[in-house]
Amino acid sequence: MKPEDVVETLPISEWSGGIPPELQRRAADALEGGKVLFFPDLPFRLEAAETGFLDQTAASGERKNVSLDPRTGKLGGAAYEGEEARALAAMLERFGQQATGFVRGLIPAYAAELERARTSFRPVEVKGRSYSTRHDDRLLHVDAFPTRPLAGRRILRLFSNIAPDGALREWRVGEPFADHAARFLPRIRAPLPGQAMVMNLLGLTKAPRTRYDHLMMGLHDQAKYDGDYQANGPRADVTFPPNSSWMVYTDQVLHAALGGRFALEQTFHLPVEAMLHPERTPLRVLERLTGRALV
Ligand code: SIN
Ligand code: FE
Repeated sequence: MKPEDVVETLPISEWSGGIPPELQRRAADALEGGKVLFFPDLPFRLEAAETGFLDQTAASGERKNVSLDPRTGKLGGAAYEGEEARALAAMLERFGQQATGFVRGLIPAYAAELERARTSFRPVEVKGRSYSTRHDDRLLHVDAFPTRPLAGRRILRLFSNIAPDGALREWRVGEPFADHAARFLPRIRAPLPGQAMVMNLLGLTKAPRTRYDHLMMGLHDQAKYDGDYQANGPRADVTFPPNSSWMVYTDQVLHAALGGRFALEQTFHLPVEAMLHPERTPLRVLERLTGRALV
């Protein structure tokens, strides 16, 4: 695979303001078609007082991310308290609001259904840390959350590289979702009878895991544990420099973060029905491959 196969570069340099309809269309088609939208000239600007947060110890202890819950305003994982914590939360909130306005303007068809989820700050260098295989996002994977079943809802993420020191964010992008699912589905075991209900009663999940969520977790884990696939599977390596932004459906696009520090990220959820091309979603692809309804 070549970087051009997996990345669509778009000449947009403003977070708000009109985007021509033909560019909107190109963005939506590429995004739902499983490409990473790359905005080389879309920097998130820090205020002077915020540059002090560009410190790898901004996340507390073993945490690699700081996160903001936009509904409660609660900041998690930060090494700061009091006024400093409030200032960092305000920076994440500003990024989250800009990101939300941007997605609404870029793909107006999403606006009514777009749900803003967590905002995160990722200060810590990705390289050279130790992770368990399952938590190692340096390995190709599709995103799936063990505790939060999505029942087919999409995971859309917008990132900005805010590194002050030239550090590139280095990614690897893998094969198209349908190829990936066809390759790994046969290895995923069916859940045990009653497993979803029992896990939910035990508080291991926030809602019962649907068949869809079971398969997505299975794809996530099977890909990470397959050393041969990680070493030799189809892939293209791409980099995102400081002052650029990018956006991708991480439930659909196989991705791995190989290096970099100081990124901001905003997660969104969307229902399958909000898509321009619902047939390309992981839910519909998995339903075609398994021949059954999964939610
Ligand atoms: C991931 O979503 O797997 C990591 C992406 C990143 O932090 O660059
Ligand atoms: Fe991921």
